[in-house]
Amino acid sequence: MIESNFNKDSLTVADSVIKGRDNDAFDNKLRPRSFDEYIGQKEVKANLRISIEAAKKRGDALDHILLHGPPGLGKTTLANVIATEMDANLKITSGPAIEKPGDVASIISNLDEGDILFIDEIHRLKPVVEEVLYTAMEDYGIDIVIGKGPAARSMRIALPKFTMIGATTKLSMLSSPLRSRFGNIFKLQFYTDDELGEIVKRSAEILDAHIDEFVSLRLARAARQTPRIANRYLKRARDFADIHNESFITEDILLETFKRIGVDELGLDGVDREIISLIINKFQGGPVGLSTLAAAIGEDKSTLEDIYEPFLIKSGFLERTTRGRVVTKMAYRHLGHGLIG
Ligand SMILES: Nc1ncnc2c1ncn2[C@@H]1O[C@H](COP(=O)(O)OP(=O)(O)OP(=O)(O)O)[C@@H](O)[C@H]1O
Ligand SMILES: [Mg+2]
Repeated sequence: MIESNFNKDSLTVADSVIKGRDNDAFDNKLRPRSFDEYIGQKEVKANLRISIEAAKKRGDALDHILLHGPPGLGKTTLANVIATEMDANLKITSGPAIEKPGDVASIISNLDEGDILFIDEIHRLKPVVEEVLYTAMEDYGIDIVIGKGPAARSMRIALPKFTMIGATTKLSMLSSPLRSRFGNIFKLQFYTDDELGEIVKRSAEILDAHIDEFVSLRLARAARQTPRIANRYLKRARDFADIHNESFITEDILLETFKRIGVDELGLDGVDREIISLIINKFQGGPVGLSTLAAAIGEDKSTLEDIYEPFLIKSGFLERTTRGRVVTKMAYRHLGHGLIG
């Protein structure tokens, strides 16, 4: 079995990504405010710049925008940037927070013309709420029924022309009528090492931490192509530098940080290694089904599927087959196992 070098400092990727969400509120200073500060996502930015410029020229509201992609890639940040670039007010809510159709009416009728409504986790909207959104998004109106029985009549309330920005990590869970009402649908991409290195340098400057090009790239390489993770590792490394009275985050300090938090040079954490070693040791390298694996690892299915698997698959450690998950030769090699067969 692979030893798990977890200790009290270890930080699983799920911690970084999911719990990091709460921390982002504190880290508002690290959040880019404008397109110029928002690193990477070139294509999305280029398209958005055009839409924004055109809408501003016409003095019109922006078309509704749907942002999707794995956690921590910058969806919420981008919604803020869009609002800033449009000089628009941003009102933030989330799918689970909107409980009944009446909530939609009160949220939207309180907006001003041109305001932006950001709905996070939009895949978690209730179907009855979603239905009200259809006319709100399409016709800027909401139908309400007044009175009861035969005397009941339907009346349409006009809403201000607003822009909705929806964000989701699960595009497939969005109903197609809702999806089709977004004029722009953008998928955020994982970041290249160079882009992430830039983000690390920018964040370091804001945090008043010193790190050179080489070390920031090294940090970036272990951050699973995800800005939220890069920022979290940077902060931990800064803590270690402070403890050692070092003004610079040196390579040694970075390596010590990785060791303490249980991350290896390729960015795999204890849970990743546990997943791979479980498949190798318990399931003879696979195939093994998602539910079986989740139960064996003690993580819930969606954490395994949304947080761990995409990275393991993308970096070539794991393959998804029709019969289940299979580890690759690279996984055996990385964990120092002899190859079977
Ligand atoms: N393009 C970027 N440039 C610089 N920093 C970024 C960028 N994208 C994200 N970040 C940083 O990463 C953090 C996480 O981003 P954000 O909260 O926007 O992710 P998200 O996609 O909304 O995640 P979730 O799905 O968990 O809500 C932000 O606080 C920000 O500091
Ligand atoms: Mg978010």
